Amino acid sequence: MKKLVITGGAGFIGSHVVRRFVNQYPEYTILNLDALTYAGNLENLKDIEDKPNYQFIKADITDEKQIIEIFSEFQPDGVIHLAAESHVDRSITTPLEFVKSNVIGTVILLDAVKKIWNKNYEGKRFHHVSTDEVYGALNETGFFTEETKYNPHSPYSASKASSDHFVRAYADTYNLPVVITNCSNNYGPNHFPEKFIPLLIHNILNNKTLPVYGDGNYTRDWLYVIDHAIAIDLVFHKGKNKDNYNIGGFNEWKNIDLVHLVCKLMDKKLGRSEGESAKLITFVKDRPGHDLRYAIDASKINKELGWKPSVNFEEGLTRTIDWYMDNQDWLNHVTSGSYRKYYDEQYDLI
Ligand code: NAD
Ligand code: TYD
Repeated sequence: MKKLVITGGAGFIGSHVVRRFVNQYPEYTILNLDALTYAGNLENLKDIEDKPNYQFIKADITDEKQIIEIFSEFQPDGVIHLAAESHVDRSITTPLEFVKSNVIGTVILLDAVKKIWNKNYEGKRFHHVSTDEVYGALNETGFFTEETKYNPHSPYSASKASSDHFVRAYADTYNLPVVITNCSNNYGPNHFPEKFIPLLIHNILNNKTLPVYGDGNYTRDWLYVIDHAIAIDLVFHKGKNKDNYNIGGFNEWKNIDLVHLVCKLMDKKLGRSEGESAKLITFVKDRPGHDLRYAIDASKINKELGWKPSVNFEEGLTRTIDWYMDNQDWLNHVTSGSYRKYYDEQYDLI
């Protein structure tokens, strides 16, 4: 494979995937296609933007004409599709935006490759990057496997589930060569501070309250973002055609325990006395339809492709906190302007 489009490459996970492919595969040409929404930021890719095998184009996947033009001109052999609206809380406020980018945008991309590949599928692949949230919520026990029935609850997870169904429908109906990955919650550098872990780090640095939804007894399975990028690389190259793989950290944390861990690590870093940052914890109104627990069984990707997480949680969190402390310009930049309005509206209850 020589030519690859990565959509959403200026976002959190996408930028780590772009970096990995640009550095790992100098013989490929990587086209990062991104609309640069509030979540897309080319500063994330400063270190690789001058590499000869990297190109960027600002484009919206919901613009059918533009996408067909770009794909006809570039003629990609592969697509790794990450572009999406990704925040559950925003999906509760503006669900239609999620249908547009996540569902319609995905179908436009599928149509574009169907057209340009024109049934010549040798060496071609469309890799759709999805989430464990499509499976719904678990109680205290059990895991999501690749066979778990889809049961999304939020407008975000419903839009991702819908896009997964379209990807499978294109495989079944048109024989399109596809693969899907469903991953648990990621964390790491370049994570937009609307999501829980970077929001905690940002607020601790600024001595602002730490909003914990409901009673804090919600559980998520956290994976270091670079381990996700490695898994995507493996599945893109070696995953079975028309198959799906779960990716997870085997690393479940209740939100309230996670907040205390982040507070403890940051007290140490900031030279504060232990317990200082935890004083900022504030329980706030719960998220409507809040999924109690996500937990991924990632044994299939482990058995078939030999993948497992390489970074343990405390190490990954420490690296993440260090990154945010060393990159406060990045943080100040992304939290200026529209972020403030979003934050005030989302957390006006505090
Ligand atoms: P993000 O919000 O940080 O980045 C999304 C990127 O997509 C941004 O660069 C944005 O500009 C771009 N984008 C959005 N709409 C677009 C459009 N219409 N056209 C072109 N570009 C557009 O998201 P993320 O956290 O990096 O997630 C990336 C993908 O991984 C998403 O598909 C998400 O559903 C999936 N995922 C995320 C997680 C997680 O924990 N963050 C876990 C599993 C799966
Ligand atoms: P988030 O990072 O938004 O990811 P997702 O909802 O996709 O899992 O949230 C992670 C968990 O943290 C989730 O249970 C909601 C909770 N949460 C809070 O308690 N407070 C917050 O301010 C945010 C953003 C999330």
